[in-house]
Amino acid sequence: FKKIGVLTSGGDAPGMNAAIRAVTRTAIYNGIKVVGVMQGYAGLIAGEFRDLKTTDVSDIIQKGGTILKTARCMEFKTKEGRQTAYENAKKQGIEALVVIGGDGSFTGARLLSEEHPDFPIVGIPGTIDNDLFGTDYTIGYDTALNTVVEAVDKIRDTASSHNRLFFVEVMGRDAGFIALRSGIAVGAEAILIPEVHTPYAELKAYLENNSKRKRLNNLIIVAEGADQGGAIEVANKVKADFPVYDVKVTILGHIQRGGSPSAFDRVTASRLGAGAVEALLDDQKSIMVGIVNNQISQVPFNQTIKNKKDINVSMLKLAEILSI
Ligand code: F6P
Repeated sequence: FKKIGVLTSGGDAPGMNAAIRAVTRTAIYNGIKVVGVMQGYAGLIAGEFRDLKTTDVSDIIQKGGTILKTARCMEFKTKEGRQTAYENAKKQGIEALVVIGGDGSFTGARLLSEEHPDFPIVGIPGTIDNDLFGTDYTIGYDTALNTVVEAVDKIRDTASSHNRLFFVEVMGRDAGFIALRSGIAVGAEAILIPEVHTPYAELKAYLENNSKRKRLNNLIIVAEGADQGGAIEVANKVKADFPVYDVKVTILGHIQRGGSPSAFDRVTASRLGAGAVEALLDDQKSIMVGIVNNQISQVPFNQTIKNKKDINVSMLKLAEILSI
């Protein structure tokens, strides 16, 4: 290749900049020019490009967000939109593309590369949700976890002082990875995730038992996609059933998407950025690079999209044991 493109797409995640830096510098190291596409696929369709030299990616490894901006692009879902994107890329001399994003971004990438087999695309998993099949970790997940833990530790201080029951809602879309891991890290009394149905009666029995023991300081982590509803819904039920509890709700929201990436995310992003360029040099296309058992892996897009990543259900049991 003489020139490749790189873009970030979907929800931003801390560590995306570290990945852009790694893609850019690994490509330049191998004699390849790099073009940054602004605002994900929307920029590919609108023709918004900027050259990336080594110095353009200086001083960004520690920054949250993405210097290339990002978007969720409806037009790219149409064949016409993808055709325009392809033609714009070709006009710029872009011969291959690295897409940093989640499964929605990879669905678009797979379609584009199916329609244009001469245009290789490699994906890098970037989402705080950690919900991508084919990689143990996605870029941004570790930082989001640390953000949740820092915030919830503060909530625990006040929950404990006032003997209150807090429901804290965390992100994750329809996956419970953030909830489960952060729940263990903060010593949550209960964790509600979409992957495992916890009947309300079970939560009620647990809270009944705690109230009998005068244990009124409780912290429950609720994944936004939990089937019992969000934190507000569950909290309202509990309020109605237990006047003894002083119930409060905190929805952490987009604080989980920002901030300086953790060391773990910076290193993961650096390895995956380099891995993506190496995969292109190795004639790979329509794959995502991931990290499995601490090794760089390559998974076809259609597998990452089709397969659901398993959550470690035994960790939920662990949380239950540790919250007696
Ligand atoms: O995929 C990342 C994520 O933060 C999810 O956890 C959340 O459901 C969603 O994006 C929120 O999207 P938006 O920022 O578009 O509201």
